[in-house]
Amino acid sequence: MKFTVKCENPASVKTGCVILGIFERRKLSDAASRFDKTCRGLLTKLLHGGDMDGKPGQTLLVHYPSGAKCERVLLVGCGKPGEFNGTAYRKAVAGAAQAVNASGASDAVSYLADLDVSDCDSYIRVRAHVEVVRSTLYTPDELKSKKDKESRPLRRLGINVHAEAGESAHQAIADGEAIANGVQLARTLGDLPGNICTPSYLASQARDLGKSSTRLKVSVMEEAGMKKHGMGALLSVARGSDEPAKLITLVYSGGKTGQKPVVLVGKGVTFDSGGISIKPAAAMDEMKFDMCGAASVLGTFKACIEMNLPLNVVGVIPATENLPGGRASKPGDIVTSMSGQTIEVLNTDAEGRLILCDALSYSERFKPDAVIDIATLTGACVIALGAHAAGLLSNDDALAGKLLDAGKAAGDRAWQLPLWEDYQPQLDSNFADMANIGGREAGTITAACFLSRFAEKYHWAHLDIAGVAWKNGKEKGATGRPVSLLTQFLLDRCADR
Ligand code: BES
Ligand code: MN
Ligand code: ZN
Repeated sequence: MKFTVKCENPASVKTGCVILGIFERRKLSDAASRFDKTCRGLLTKLLHGGDMDGKPGQTLLVHYPSGAKCERVLLVGCGKPGEFNGTAYRKAVAGAAQAVNASGASDAVSYLADLDVSDCDSYIRVRAHVEVVRSTLYTPDELKSKKDKESRPLRRLGINVHAEAGESAHQAIADGEAIANGVQLARTLGDLPGNICTPSYLASQARDLGKSSTRLKVSVMEEAGMKKHGMGALLSVARGSDEPAKLITLVYSGGKTGQKPVVLVGKGVTFDSGGISIKPAAAMDEMKFDMCGAASVLGTFKACIEMNLPLNVVGVIPATENLPGGRASKPGDIVTSMSGQTIEVLNTDAEGRLILCDALSYSERFKPDAVIDIATLTGACVIALGAHAAGLLSNDDALAGKLLDAGKAAGDRAWQLPLWEDYQPQLDSNFADMANIGGREAGTITAACFLSRFAEKYHWAHLDIAGVAWKNGKEKGATGRPVSLLTQFLLDRCADR
């Protein structure tokens, strides 16, 4: 898809389709109003004829509007003007993208980024327009022998902005494309099945990313190296599998030498069967998505590279399968982590924290300014927050605040849960320093409590993305979240950009 900045009268722009916003009830946006005047009240007539009234989700396609230069006009319902926030805006853009892509127009000009959105400036409106169009038109058909693509899909989209916003609009489009590419990488990796996307495959994807930029260095540690480092927790999860575990490290040096990096740690369980504490069969296929934390780290690096961010960022990805087997960990086994702390594995399905704890200890060597781990960690988080927000837990409220703000700005929200001492005793073990599970209550919090014991030496935040990383049902597939949140967080740290 080719995106361009436009600044033209909607009635005089020559294009396959002009996209205009309509508010409830039957209110023309400014651009729609200009278009309507030139077309002698065509839109007013349509609205009063009852063809649409501007409700969110509505679209209406009209061919050869007389008086205008375009072949089609697409009216997009935006809801009540007072309620038009970033979420409503993104929904309107998604609906428009779907409709225009199916219309047969191969090019279009959108006037949606011109609209007033309560919590988005012009830069964010344009950037989000790009991100949402790209994301809406993505189809996970890499492994289908016959693609079900539109015969004449949209290829070029102009985004209209007011004259004074022109300069930032070019930056917004470039940034939007970089983020969309990062999100797309995360989705593609997430959607790949466990027999293709193995720990070795993730490592090769990381190496490929390394080849795309001189600023990025990628290295991969094998199980022998993990043994040397004493990563007994990570290794214990890999024991049941024939696929070798990998610890992938990405070092992006875009900032000044000596500037402390942000470290992103991504859970890379390429298939989580539960191990000996095996999961029920229903929907177990979705556990191929258990590497979406890792995928979001790779996606964020892709965006960083394309935006040339002047920052130092490190990625650490522990990658393994979690399978039952003759050598697999058993409930009751006690393992020693890289930190020296011992862990009683009461449930082999609580494997994410076991691989993350060693990755967190390993992260100390980068002398980080902050460490953020991203993990599809607990089913409890899906129950608590559903598909709308990632769970956020942190040992530093300033860091948590920055992540919450980044999520709001990027339309990729997180919600903070407490990490109070009160929950820690749930992890007590009679035989080891701690157990790897904390009982039924507050499962997301006790999982974070476990991780916090390995993150005491730096500012740390944990994003539990179990509810947001993929969709199920008819729309089953990875979402690419939280690449947008993470990239926004990194962007916010670049004062000089
Ligand atoms: N990968 C799962 C978490 C998960 C489950 C994400 C369902 C999305 C949907 C994780 O490894 C896991 O199995 N967690 C257990 C922890 C429990 C044994 C303490 C869970 O949440 O049930
Ligand atoms: Mn599990
Ligand atoms: Zn898991």
